[in-house]
Amino acid sequence: MTVPVIAIDGPSGSGKGTIARRVAEALGYHLLDSGALYRLTAIAAKNNGVSLDDETRLAKLAADLDIQFDSNDEGSERIWLAGEDVTLEVRKESTGTGASAVAAIPKVREALLVRQRAFEKAPGLVADGRDMGTHVFTSAALKIFLTASAGERARRRHKQLNDKGIDVSLAALSRDIEDRDRRDSERSVAPLKPAKDARILDSSGKSIEAVTQTVLDWVAEL
Ligand code: C5P
Repeated sequence: MTVPVIAIDGPSGSGKGTIARRVAEALGYHLLDSGALYRLTAIAAKNNGVSLDDETRLAKLAADLDIQFDSNDEGSERIWLAGEDVTLEVRKESTGTGASAVAAIPKVREALLVRQRAFEKAPGLVADGRDMGTHVFTSAALKIFLTASAGERARRRHKQLNDKGIDVSLAALSRDIEDRDRRDSERSVAPLKPAKDARILDSSGKSIEAVTQTVLDWVAEL
């Protein structure tokens, strides 16, 4: 039996993470936050003193990541790396920048490919990232490329980080997001771009509920 996969790709702050979680909850599917794997690889590199040019050691760290995802009593995510609570560190913009650097290394992507595909389990999977539809789950039942205007993406990310108690200026965040998007789009391996068979969904000015509903309507058409 094939397991249905819903691939949701798009740039930083497009709302992928939130929408993917809502859709997975509504369908009772598993969820893969693939960006978290790149972020955790960047944290593991820092914790183990591995330089971002040591491609072989970075790939080994990615392959051996000891991760646990769970949630606290209020249902917020908690992420553990090698037994250490890294929930806040994972979402920091500096970790996103480190993630984008390790994500440009083909050996790291290769190491994480196997781990990502292991999430494909019944009854189904919602996978969010940059290359879910183009590389990791090429035969996904539904591929969505979620976008939003650059200003709106920066504002959303700003609010998200503030809500988590992470203080950052909107101007600095906009610059970081632009740099990261450029690096993610221009890299030679698995660049950020819509799959040929992806449906484009612009979430600018739309509520989380409306975007979630559009995705669920598309799933219902399958
Ligand atoms: O989505 P998130 O902001 O957590 O991703 C962090 C970084 O990880 C991205 O900027 C990108 O460089 C990388 N990434 C990737 N491929 C994915 C998911 C994330 O290259 N599928």
